[in-house]
Amino acid sequence: AVDVAVPPAPMGWASWNSFGTDITETIIKDQANAIKEFNTRLPPNTPKYNQVNIDAGFWMIGQGRRSDGSQNIDATKWTGGSLKSSVNYIHSLGLKAGAYMDVGFNGCAGHAGSEGYYFPDIQRFADNGFDYIKVDFCGGRGQGLGPKEAYSKIALAVQSAVIQAQRDIYLSICNWGFYGPPGFSDSGKGPWTWAPGINGIASNMWRTSDDITFAVGSNARASAEDVLVNFRANYHPEAQHTGYYNDPDMMVIGMDGVDLNPADPVQSRAHMSLWAVSGAPLMMGNNMKTLLQQPQFSAILTNPAVIKIDQDSRGLPPIRVDTPAVGQEIYARRLAGKGQRAVVLLNTNLQPVKMSFTAAQLGLLPTGALSVKDVWANTPAERASGRYEATVPAFGTMMFLVSGTDTTSVPSAVRAGTSPA
Ligand code: DGJ
Repeated sequence: AVDVAVPPAPMGWASWNSFGTDITETIIKDQANAIKEFNTRLPPNTPKYNQVNIDAGFWMIGQGRRSDGSQNIDATKWTGGSLKSSVNYIHSLGLKAGAYMDVGFNGCAGHAGSEGYYFPDIQRFADNGFDYIKVDFCGGRGQGLGPKEAYSKIALAVQSAVIQAQRDIYLSICNWGFYGPPGFSDSGKGPWTWAPGINGIASNMWRTSDDITFAVGSNARASAEDVLVNFRANYHPEAQHTGYYNDPDMMVIGMDGVDLNPADPVQSRAHMSLWAVSGAPLMMGNNMKTLLQQPQFSAILTNPAVIKIDQDSRGLPPIRVDTPAVGQEIYARRLAGKGQRAVVLLNTNLQPVKMSFTAAQLGLLPTGALSVKDVWANTPAERASGRYEATVPAFGTMMFLVSGTDTTSVPSAVRAGTSPA
C-alpha cells in the first residue's frame, strides 16, 4: 500500500552544485559510494543522508526527445540511454534516488523541459524506481507559465504515479520563490502560499530563493552573506508543518570556492545551525569524495544532535522570537519532546555580543527551571532559571537544546506559527 507517513525533510546530496551538467552514471555511482561511506561517520540512531539526486544534465542538449517521445538520454554516459541502472545502484546501497525535470518546454542550460509530457515523464521516472522528483522552473519563467498552475498539474501526475507504483514519491518544487505573473491565480504570491496544499500531495518542499551559489563546480562561489540571504528568504513559518518544508537550497559547507573560513568552523556551524533550526532539507552539494577528505567540514555535517533537531518528527517551523538589537536575532523551534525547544542565537555583527533568551520567549513556564545544552560544544546541559545568556561569536551563532515546562498558554507567535516581526 502507499505509505502515507509524513516524512521529515529529506537529507542527502544533489549533483548540481559540484558537477553542473557534466554528470554521468559513473559520477553518480562514485558519489553514491562516497555518500554511503560518509554515513558511516554518523553515530547509530542518527538519521542518514539517504537521498542521491541526479540534477539537471542527463538529457542531451538541444535534442530533448526520441521519436517515441521519451527523454533523449546519452547512451555513452548512461547505460542503455536510461537512468535505470543508476537508480538500481543507488537502491543497492540502501539509498534513495532523485530525478530532475523542468515545467517548461525548454529547461535550464539548453536541456529540454517536460511541458506537454508531465504524465509520461513522471511515469517513466516512477517506472525506473525514482523516489523523488525535483521540478525546476527555467522554461516556466521563459514561457510565462503560472507556477501554481504548472505545479498543480505536476502534483497530479506525481499522485497518479504514486498510486500506480504503490509507494511514496517526494515532490520538490524549484521555482526559487518566484511570484506568479499577472493574470494567474498565484499572481504576486510565492510558492509558500500554495505549495503546501496543491492537490493534497503527500509530501513536498518548495524553494524560497535563488540558488545559494550561482556558479557550479570549480567556479562555485558563495559566502556567509549568501547563506544568510537564503536563510532569511526561507522564513515563511506559516507555510511549514509536518511533511511540508520551506527549502533554502542545498548547503554549501566545505564546497570548493565557498568562502566559509575553513580554519574557523564558526560560519560553517552557523550555516548548519540555521538549516537545522529551520527543519530544512539537508542536501549537500559537495563533491562527496572531496568532503570525505575534509574532517573539519565532515564533522559539522555529521553532528548527530544538530541533525536530530533538523529531523524532528513534528516538522514545525522556526519562529523569530526576538530581534533584541541590531544584528541580533533569536530563533526558537518547538520539538516533539515535551517542553523541548531548539534555540539559535544569530549575531551578524563583526564583533562577539552577549545575547540572552528567556523561558517565556520560548513558550516555557517563566519561573520553571531550564536545562540548556550547547549542542556544538556537547558539554553537559546547564541549569538556568527563567533566562540564559551566552556570548555569540562575530558573524556566527550559538545553538542550544532547551528543556523546560510547557505553559498551557503559549505566546501567540509560537502558537500561531507566525512571526512577531
Ligand atoms: C536551477 C536550480 O535552482 C538549481 O538547483 C539547479 O537545479 C539548476 N537550475 C539546474 O539547471
